[in-house]
Amino acid sequence: MPDFLTDVNLEGYNTLAVPARARYFTSLDDERELATAVAFAREKGLPVLALGGGSNIVLRGDYPGLVIHLNWRGREVVNETREHVWLKVAAGENWHQLVEYCLQQEYWGLENLSLIPGSVGAAPIQNIGAYGVELKEVFAELEAMEIQSGQRVRFNRDQCGFGYRDSAFKNGLRDRYIITSVTLKLNRLPHLKLSYPALREALADKPIADLTPVDVSRAVCSIRQAKLPDPKEIPNVGSFFKNPVVDVKTFLRLQLDHPGLISYPVDALQVKLAAGWLIERAGWKGFVQGNVAVHDQQALVLINPGRGYGHEVLRLAQRIQDSIASEFGIRLEAEPRIYP
Ligand code: EPU
Repeated sequence: MPDFLTDVNLEGYNTLAVPARARYFTSLDDERELATAVAFAREKGLPVLALGGGSNIVLRGDYPGLVIHLNWRGREVVNETREHVWLKVAAGENWHQLVEYCLQQEYWGLENLSLIPGSVGAAPIQNIGAYGVELKEVFAELEAMEIQSGQRVRFNRDQCGFGYRDSAFKNGLRDRYIITSVTLKLNRLPHLKLSYPALREALADKPIADLTPVDVSRAVCSIRQAKLPDPKEIPNVGSFFKNPVVDVKTFLRLQLDHPGLISYPVDALQVKLAAGWLIERAGWKGFVQGNVAVHDQQALVLINPGRGYGHEVLRLAQRIQDSIASEFGIRLEAEPRIYP
């Protein structure tokens, strides 16, 4: 039977270190206890918030329901061919530890996703991505529990509705399911993805033919360490905004006024803009507002060194959004999920 604690400070359970409180809280090391926890919430009519690493969430205030910390572990090869291996991973596993394990086992495909904070169960919710690779490229299926019924359900890739930092679990299916495990389809032979300019530059010393997935992982780690604050030292949730996607006409108009504008083609009609560049250009890089600030190495990252409340972070985010709207006519969308 899981322990249900009341009025628990969540500061240690979210990487922004926001000191919001949970009305009820339970931490589960065993997946079999999930049905009991969900039934407890149902009986009391409480909303449920599942937390993994808490690295992509902003707690706007206290949570009026049950917070379930998903902490169960496990990895299992469920299928193998000459080319691929299907690895089923428990939701509570740490993402980067999984990446390291896969490198050791020579299961390739996760190297560009090295050092992303958070848990495996959270990875599909925002379709984590970095340095030219997104989770959806290695995703096979996931298992989840429907909160309302306690039923176990499987979702294949199409059913997850993956998009850029997006999935059905952030939209139509939001708050309906708790992801319990994720199965990845990994490669036995390396297929290096070197499209991201900063990654190619970091690996320029070695001929491409000699590069290994371990080299790629090391390069990704060093780029991330140079630019992104370690949440253990400086509380943050990574990129606070999505890179905005605009139509080509808007892009050309902006480029006339701002020749340095950084962009990536999406398709024939759309272009993705570097939000970090827009925010820096608008003068926010390194800006401090009380407990919270804009990171001075990467303007897309908001930090909370003073361990302020979620509403303080959101107030700064709103000021930045207003400023980017008035300066560039672009609406920045927050990337982490915001609760309650
Ligand atoms: N830039 C600036 N000023 C800044 C920040 C960035 O001019 O303050 C410029 C950079 O010089 C670069 C461009 O903007 O030319 C893009 O910057 P960067 O390579 O750092 O990537 P990003 O677009 O800011 C995205 C992801 C990151 C991911 C990196 C690498 C989003 C919202 N963020 O950031 O993901 O690690 O690309 O793929 O798509 C996260 O989601 O939490 C995250 C960290």
